[in-house]
Amino acid sequence: MNHPTHTLRDEHQVILKVLDCFEAALRRARDESVVTQEEFEPFVGFFRDFADRCHHCKEEDRLFPCLERCGMPHEHGPIAVMLHEHQIGRAHVRAIAAALPGANSGDEEAIKDVLREGRAFIELLRNHIMKEDHVLFQMADDMIPDAERTRLADEYAQADGQKENRVSLVQYRGLAMELCARYGIAPPSTAGAG
Ligand SMILES: [Fe+2]
Ligand SMILES: [Fe+2]
Repeated sequence: MNHPTHTLRDEHQVILKVLDCFEAALRRARDESVVTQEEFEPFVGFFRDFADRCHHCKEEDRLFPCLERCGMPHEHGPIAVMLHEHQIGRAHVRAIAAALPGANSGDEEAIKDVLREGRAFIELLRNHIMKEDHVLFQMADDMIPDAERTRLADEYAQADGQKENRVSLVQYRGLAMELCARYGIAPPSTAGAG
């Protein structure tokens, strides 16, 4: 039987690659002091729709409640830390989106905001994914019983099957491949799976 975290680990690989592309875009923006909406809006869309709405919601609405049913506390420990980091990540993406129009017009403060918030977001999300892959998901794979595994797999499939999510998943996995080609990043080996 599949590990209950298989789909989430697969999505992490796609997110990590887009973070690599985002880092390359920020590096170029810093060197040239130029931030365009055309270049950065697709990243904001990916982080909001794929990383947050499709991926984080699978964790918040399905995996974490499942772990709580298995006895993991909600208010403290790994779940509380992960939920808090999701909130911080959302704040960074909001700040990037808010600064983009000004940065696009050449406002130096807005360009600095995009660069600072972007770098902070990359660091946060890489660390967050490392903690999930190596600590929380390891615990989940060990503690979730077979009956719950089946239920989780069904719930993930149901979430992905909702029309809005289905469009986003296909569209944003395609975007991840395009960005990797554009920024010279090796594409995610699992893209298209899960
Ligand atoms: Fe997470
Ligand atoms: Fe995650």
